Amino acid sequence: MNAPKTPKTFHVKSFGCQMNVYDGERMAELLGAQGMVAAGAEDAELVVLNTCHIRERATEKVYSEIGRLKHRDAAPAPMIAVAGCVAQAEGAEIARRAKIDVVVGPQAYHNLPELVSQAAAGSLALDTDMPAIAKFGSLPARRKVGASAFLTVQEGCDKFCTYCVVPYTRGAEVSRPFQAIVDEAKALVDAGACEITLLGQNVNAWDDEAGHGLHGLIRTLDRIDGLKRIRYTTSHPNDMSQGLIDAHGDVESLMPYLHLPVQAGNDRILKAMNRSHSRDSYLRLLDRVRAVRPDIALSGDFIVGFPGETDAEFEDTLSLIDEVRYAAAFSFKYSPRPGTPAADMDGAVPAAVMDERLQRLQAAVLRHQAAFNQATVGKTCQILIERSGRQPGQMLGKSPWLQSVHLVTDARIGDLIEVRIEAGLPNSLAGIETVGLAA
Ligand code: 5AD
Ligand code: SF4
Repeated sequence: MNAPKTPKTFHVKSFGCQMNVYDGERMAELLGAQGMVAAGAEDAELVVLNTCHIRERATEKVYSEIGRLKHRDAAPAPMIAVAGCVAQAEGAEIARRAKIDVVVGPQAYHNLPELVSQAAAGSLALDTDMPAIAKFGSLPARRKVGASAFLTVQEGCDKFCTYCVVPYTRGAEVSRPFQAIVDEAKALVDAGACEITLLGQNVNAWDDEAGHGLHGLIRTLDRIDGLKRIRYTTSHPNDMSQGLIDAHGDVESLMPYLHLPVQAGNDRILKAMNRSHSRDSYLRLLDRVRAVRPDIALSGDFIVGFPGETDAEFEDTLSLIDEVRYAAAFSFKYSPRPGTPAADMDGAVPAAVMDERLQRLQAAVLRHQAAFNQATVGKTCQILIERSGRQPGQMLGKSPWLQSVHLVTDARIGDLIEVRIEAGLPNSLAGIETVGLAA
């Protein structure tokens, strides 16, 4: 054990996806509600590493973080808690090897204060149980948040893509209850949020006994006073219901942005990935979305170098990118994850080939992203101000299409203002507030 005394200060360090960011915020609120005070990683008495297991080197990264914390200069070694998906998958092993104090899985972090007390009493505290979304009922109310906030509505995954650890680390698909979500959304708005991004590993699989579906939930949230924007991520193509597509056509607060991972553009690879959709069914789905919302910004996730992927199969991914014209995308080199079916597949793609494919894919995405940004130049749109910029008087906000926009304005965080886009850079836009400008 490192620090068998009750910590008074804490630091939560989150890695990985937006859901981890959300979980990290909730852990901080929980520890704060116990009277603990937030501090920096350099001197906090408790450091929570909220880890991600999705791709390679996750575990090594955790060990090196632990090593660094144990030998930090500014203060004695803190109590160390490993949380998140690495904790779920390999927590017990890490605890044994690196002698940390607390291991807590993503479905058990509501027990963090108790686990910290247990560790302070001198014993390893480990909780990787997976009760179906019990944690939310035991977390304190939301207090202070920024203009844009996350809200987890769904967790887990039943899709079992052959490369992915999520079904093992986050468990089966579970939806939070309708009313709990509506209440949390209202609390977030009361705490200052103007935009809420609904989170889930398969967020569009969200449903309840009444059969609201994600679109029904969105239509209810749309009626909350003060909630100006709604987004959701991440979706699976097979859970994209007609109701949700229709909502993109007529719910004003639902932003014209859809993150819909496809991973690859070749049917043989999609089948080997167990994606259970084809290139064509994905493209036809996007046609239906674009039919109700022609200006929608599309984004995706891609994996290059899946076992056995040939040059020609990779070319199919590039041609799909050209066909869709993504406004943004995340792309990754395939990394074998222990325990997943793909990890046992033959046909490993050499690292140099993967590097080259990733570069070509990213160049293609960047080209379309730049074209998308360029196409917004000259348009007037609403920008949600989210934070202040580096220059005096400069503020940063987001367009409806999730582009970062910087402009000089007196508007404050949380304001939604009319802005004319003046210039498009690859990763951001420059705008001018149109108030007082001749049309
Ligand atoms: N290797 C590479 N990328 C992966 N992803 C998930 N598992 C792996 C893996 N084993 C990517 C997928 C997913 C995103 C969150 O991470 O593109 O959509
Ligand atoms: Fe992983 Fe596939 Fe589930 Fe997404 S849909 S979390 S990639 S198994």
